[in-house]
Formats: sequence, C-alpha cells, structure tokens
Amino acid sequence: MGLYKALRPLLFALPPETAHKLTLSSLAMLGRFGTPNEDDHALGQQLWGLDFANPLGMAAGFDKDGDAICGVQRIGFGFGEIGTLTPLPQAGNPAPRVFRLPQAEALINRLGFNNQGQIEALHRLQILRARKHRTLRPIGVNIGANKESADRIADYEKGAARFAALADYLTVNISSPNTPGLRDLQGGEAVVEIMQRVRAAAPDTPILVKIAPDLDRDQACEIGALALAHKIDGLIISNTTLERSAVADMRHGREAGGLSGQPVYDMSTDMLSDVYAATEGRLRLIGVGGVGTAAQAYGKICAGASLVQLYTGLVYHGPGLVGQMKRQLVALLRRDGFGTISEAIGSAHKG
Ligand code: FNR
Repeated sequence: MGLYKALRPLLFALPPETAHKLTLSSLAMLGRFGTPNEDDHALGQQLWGLDFANPLGMAAGFDKDGDAICGVQRIGFGFGEIGTLTPLPQAGNPAPRVFRLPQAEALINRLGFNNQGQIEALHRLQILRARKHRTLRPIGVNIGANKESADRIADYEKGAARFAALADYLTVNISSPNTPGLRDLQGGEAVVEIMQRVRAAAPDTPILVKIAPDLDRDQACEIGALALAHKIDGLIISNTTLERSAVADMRHGREAGGLSGQPVYDMSTDMLSDVYAATEGRLRLIGVGGVGTAAQAYGKICAGASLVQLYTGLVYHGPGLVGQMKRQLVALLRRDGFGTISEAIGSAHKG
C-alpha cells in the first residue's frame, strides 16, 4: 500500500480515463511475469464446478476488453470479469465521462459501454486459453447490448452463444444506467425472456444476472425467484446507483451516470441480504458495491455473498489492497470460528 500511497497523487493529477489506461497497461505488463501467490486454504471454495482460490474478484468495467486478464490475477484476485462487451464495437459517450469524488471514495461514470466489441475479446480469450490453460483462475465474461441495437434481447443471446465455450461464467448486465432504457430489461416479461434465451444459447455455462441497487426490495427478490425458476446460476448485486443523496453537495456530485464506491455499500449489501433471505440461500450471489476493506467484504459474505467483487476501492487503495484484504479475511474467519469461507456465507441470517 505504501508505494501506491506515493503514486496516487500522480495518478490523480491525470484525468481519470488516462490514469485508468496507464494502470491497465501496467497490469497487462505485470501479467506476463509469474503467477499469483498461493492463497490460504480457508479462502478457497468450489462453485459451479470452478475452483476459486479466494473470494475476491475484479468487477466488470475495469478490464472491458480483456487486455489485462493475467495482470488482474497476478495482483491476487481469485477471479476476474471482463466486459461489458457488446456484439459490435462501441465508442461510448463523449468525454469527460468519469469523475472522482475523493471525499466519498467514490466515482461517477457514464462511459456507456465503450468497448472493442465481442469478436476482438473472443480472439484474445482464445489465445490466452490456448497458452495458459492450467494457470488461469476463473474468468467471467460480462455481456451487454449495443446502444443502437434494434433487438437488445437478441444481443444478449448472441453474446451468450459467442462466449459459451470460453467463459467460465457469463454475466448478463441489464443494470448499466448509461445505456438509455437498458434497465427496463430488469422488469416484467423482458427479464424472463432474456433468462430463457441466454440459458438456451449457453446451456452448460454458469449464467449470472447483474442488477441495479436502485430496484426496490420486491423487484430484486422477484428477479431472484425468476432466476431460480429459469435455471440461472446466480445474481450479481449490484451495479452502480443513480442515487446522489450522499454526494450531491460534493464536487462532481451531480454529474449524470452511475455512482460507485463507499456510498453504494449499504444499499447494495442490504439488497443482497434481502435476496439471500427471500431465496433461502438457494441462489448463489456475488456481492459488489463499495468494498474497500476486508471487513466490508466479510460483511457481504455474512449477508449471503459467495464471492465479492470490487472496482472503486482499488482506484483509491491500489493493488496492494487485494493481498491485505485476503490476510485480514483469514483473520476474520478465525475470529468467528469458521474453518472456511463457505461456512461464513449467509451466517448473518442464522440465529
Ligand atoms: C463500472 N461498472 C460496470 N459494470 C458492468 O457490469 N459493466 C461495465 O462495463 C461497468 N463499467 C464500469 C466502469 C467504471 C468506471 C466503474 C467505476 C464501474 C460497475 C462495477 O462493476 C461495480 O458493479 C460498481 O462499480 C460497484 O462496485 P465498486 O466500484 O463500488 O466496488
């Protein structure tokens, strides 16, 4: 953490997207050397037939095109998620479109699914799989719809079919606030149709649906019930929020887009806890939103998350955060008398 503390003012002197590109290319370079250190066995678990050496993952949006998959694993993450990838390449919204809110350890972004498109990433993943098949940790592929698409549901179906064989799991992102109308796909018949068509397109791949923290409790629990009914493997809770009450008075606090980081922690964890309770622990959940400490990651696990992802915390604390969080997670498990992470999942709901 010491080195990043010294580097952070330099990175923060750059526009956020420039700093991000620099970070990504440094990680891509780092990924060429060595493999991740072994993790404490207490942090390991098997889910969907995959081995997760630890429960911490890089959230979607950081490495949209899969440029730094090995680098992300090298800094200690147990898994990474690339994307959101749309069928066709897309430039996204005009810059500036990412804003730092350091007082709140938060970001606002309205990138709008800027990415090189699925075909490019597919080739990258094929090459990686061919070269490094044994050393790779699980890789999720997050799929979305093009802004100008005439048939958005077909875009999800296409993404699922394309990545079915190469992704360890697929994330159906219907919760980005930056593609107008996309979040409407979380409601009514649309979500059922997406679940059915994506399931049919990728029958043997674990599929998760990523939802917004701005849904109300009943809507979120309803999506959980539908996921179970339609053989979806889990939910990712949550994406960024449109809520601004915690940051409205800060510089950039009223920028349009999705807010991430500390202000999202409570709302996303409460939603996760509600969905875990409503689905009686039968649906796997990935907790994401505002995680910047081991205690916060542990909070999501006890609330019902099997895995935890982060993005904004890494921007504020640097790559050393991952190792530090893993060490402290082991200590938290021991403190509470749990032998492994699996025993802690959902423990806040028991007695
Ligand atoms: C994101 N996030 C995101 N999510 C997603 O499913 N697809 C995406 O393309 C992106 N893009 C993206 C860009 C930027 C700059 C940020 C900060 C976030 C959302 C991200 O994966 C996560 O759900 C939220 O940021 C909440 O987690 P953190 O950042 O509070 O740990």
